[in-house]
Amino acid sequence: MARVLVLFAHPRTDRSVANTALMAAARAMDGVTFADLYAEYPDFDIDIDREQQRLRESDILVFQHPVYWYSSPALLKEWLDLVFEHGFAYGSEGTALAGKPLLQVATCGTARAAYKKRGKYENELRTLFSPFEQTANFCGMRYLAPFGVFSAEDAAEEKRLDGIVADYRRLLTALRDGTLDLEKAAAAPLLNDVLDEVIAPEPATL
Ligand SMILES: Cc1cc2nc3c(=O)[nH]c(=O)nc-3n(C[C@H](O)[C@H](O)[C@H](O)COP(=O)(O)O)c2cc1C
Repeated sequence: MARVLVLFAHPRTDRSVANTALMAAARAMDGVTFADLYAEYPDFDIDIDREQQRLRESDILVFQHPVYWYSSPALLKEWLDLVFEHGFAYGSEGTALAGKPLLQVATCGTARAAYKKRGKYENELRTLFSPFEQTANFCGMRYLAPFGVFSAEDAAEEKRLDGIVADYRRLLTALRDGTLDLEKAAAAPLLNDVLDEVIAPEPATL
C-alpha cells in the first residue's frame, strides 16, 4: 500500500462546500494522511523540517485546493517555495521527491466549458497549472493530469457533489493501492475525461 499525502489549501473552509465534502472523504481513508495547511500554518510560519519529513514518509502527493486566480491559494505556493529546497527536492543530492506522482485536485467556480482553448479562459486547467507541472518535472516527480471539479459552487444543489466525492475516493484508493494507470493519467489533458480508463475496475464479488 502506497502512502498518500494530501496537502490541502483553502483559506476559508468556513465558507467551503465542495472542498469540505472532498476533505471528509480523504480524511476517512486508511493510508491517506491529510494535512490542512491553513489550519496548521495560519500565520504562514511553515515548519520546513517537518514538511520535508512528511514528504520523505510519503510515496504519492496530492494537492487539493480551490482555484484562485487560475492558480492555488497563496499558502500552497509559499509551502512550495520553502519546502522544495535545493538539496532536498532538486540538485545532485536533492532526490527526496524523485519518481513520486503528484496529483492536483482543484475545484473551480467556473464551468468546464471556460477551461478550453476556445473557451472563456482560452486554456485547459492543465495549461494554467503549468508552473506546478514544471516544478514537479524539475524535481523528477510524475505530474498527473489534474482532476477538476467545475461549477463547484452549484455541485451540491445540482446533486453532482456525491458523485464527485465518490470519484475522488476512487482516485485516492487507486493511487494508494497501485491500481491507477500512471502513464495514462500523466498523458491525459484532464483526469476527469479518462477516469474509467485509468482506474482498474474493482474485482467482481459474488
Ligand atoms: C479569490 C478567489 C479567486 C477565484 N478565482 C477563480 C478562478 O480563477 N477560476 C475559477 O474557476 N474560480 C475561481 N474562484 C472560485 C472558487 O474556485 C470556488 O469558489 C471554489 O472552488 C469553490 O469551492 P469551495 O466550496 O470548497 O470553496 C475564485 C474564488 C476566490 C475567492
